[in-house]
Amino acid sequence: MMKRILMSRLLHSQTSTARLLSGRSSLKDSWAESVVWHQGDLLSPDSLKDSLIGVNSVISCVGGFGSNSYMYKINGTANINAVKAAKEQGVKRFVFVSAADFGLVNYLLRGYYEGKRATEEELMTELPHGGVILRPGFIHGTRQVGSIKLPLSVIGAPLEMILKHAKVLTAIPLVGPLLIPPVHVTSVAKVAVSAATDPTFPHGIIDVYSILQHSQQKSA
Ligand SMILES: NC(=O)c1ccc[n+]([C@@H]2O[C@H](COP(=O)([O-])OP(=O)(O)OC[C@H]3O[C@@H](n4cnc5c(N)ncnc54)[C@H](OP(=O)(O)O)[C@@H]3O)[C@@H](O)[C@H]2O)c1
Repeated sequence: MMKRILMSRLLHSQTSTARLLSGRSSLKDSWAESVVWHQGDLLSPDSLKDSLIGVNSVISCVGGFGSNSYMYKINGTANINAVKAAKEQGVKRFVFVSAADFGLVNYLLRGYYEGKRATEEELMTELPHGGVILRPGFIHGTRQVGSIKLPLSVIGAPLEMILKHAKVLTAIPLVGPLLIPPVHVTSVAKVAVSAATDPTFPHGIIDVYSILQHSQQKSA
């Protein structure tokens, strides 16, 4: 869901040539022709190197669900490979779309969260001043599943409106983390593009409340 919004936003910001590392180049959107496509698999790090030559900033929205070992591989190993390759090629900024802490859910989706946190650690070690970690909760927008468009914002938008003013509730033991406000996919994409293109954007962890705050600012 996020890849297409991110790419259209990046092209809109007109900072420089946008490159997309992807398993496929099948997107039909009008902007897709302005993108330099690199086909690659983050689980085969050698397939990345050429795509990173001369690159200043990387945004990774790579993630996925499945068995715990698969989730660790996609959210952890694949992204860790991307961080290592970026460091080797002298990339200055690396923006990683991670995920908020959901308490009990973290346990049920161990591979997902352990993978995300392992990537965060790698990023903070390899690029301590160039790593930006976005930690959204549930991301809403329109998700394309085959030919069907799922309007996740029907639920996500009202919840975002209510919960963004109720940070205090997230401190309630056990259920608190489930009350983290959802955030629209365009907000996350806007902040990711700002983080990648604005050298004054702060490095480190950006939680969902900061994502909401940064997304209301004018740039990008
Ligand atoms: N959706 C949510 O509610 C939510 C909440 C918190 C955090 N997040 C995180 O936000 C990010 C974007 O979410 P989303 O909903 O847009 O996810 P998504 O639609 O499942 O997209 C996952 C992305 O990972 C890429 N990918 C998977 N395996 C890869 C590999 N081996 N090599 C290269 N690329 C690979 C896919 O590329 P291809 O398209 O080329 O296959 C796709 O662009 C994810 O990291 C997710 O964990 C999502």
